[in-house]
Amino acid sequence: SIYSLSALVAAYLFGSIPTAVWIGQAFYGIDVREYGSGNAGATNTFRVLGKKAGIAVMVLDILKGWTATNLAYLIGLSVTGPQHSVQFANYQLALGIIAVMGHLFPVFAGFRGGKGIATLFGMILAVHIEAAMVCVVVFLIVLLVSKYVSLSSISAGFSFPLSVIFLFHSPIRPIVVYGMCICVLILVTHQKNIERLLKGKEAKVNFFRKKQL
Ligand code: G3P
Repeated sequence: SIYSLSALVAAYLFGSIPTAVWIGQAFYGIDVREYGSGNAGATNTFRVLGKKAGIAVMVLDILKGWTATNLAYLIGLSVTGPQHSVQFANYQLALGIIAVMGHLFPVFAGFRGGKGIATLFGMILAVHIEAAMVCVVVFLIVLLVSKYVSLSSISAGFSFPLSVIFLFHSPIRPIVVYGMCICVLILVTHQKNIERLLKGKEAKVNFFRKKQL
């Protein structure tokens, strides 16, 4: 329907809001894409502009994914019963992924965005909150041990479908299928990070260092 179509467009526009670029430009006069990893995401904002800006970008990017995914509630699905939850999850996940595509290729920032981790987290928070919590724990453990944000993102991404399948035994197949697609997507967006990790050249976080600029 026209409603579901507008929701899909709205999801892309939400995801497209380039929070890292806009916050950097508005409050620091800096495009974060010109520094650090060159990525327009929360991690690079932390790296370049420090804690305050980093947390703001992270929260807003999570909110983008969460809001876009929950646009599904605006569409009245007529099907009831178990089939309903499958159809609903399908729609939620499609909206979430479209928001992530907006984040990766933002119409408001020359189609050069981020890697979508915070936005993906907002999406999984909206579809499976328990699995999302497992992802947070995995992310934090890997970050504390390795000090690589990219490796933590990749590990957390893989823990999503794995926990959905083996820990929560979710009967909702689209969550499993999308979860696996998310893993592939994260590997693609983190290609450069993976190359650097393999060469031992990936930047580690220094929890005590002052911001770069
Ligand atoms: O959130 C993206 C993170 O996994 C990697 O970011 O800037 O280190 O490439 P970055």
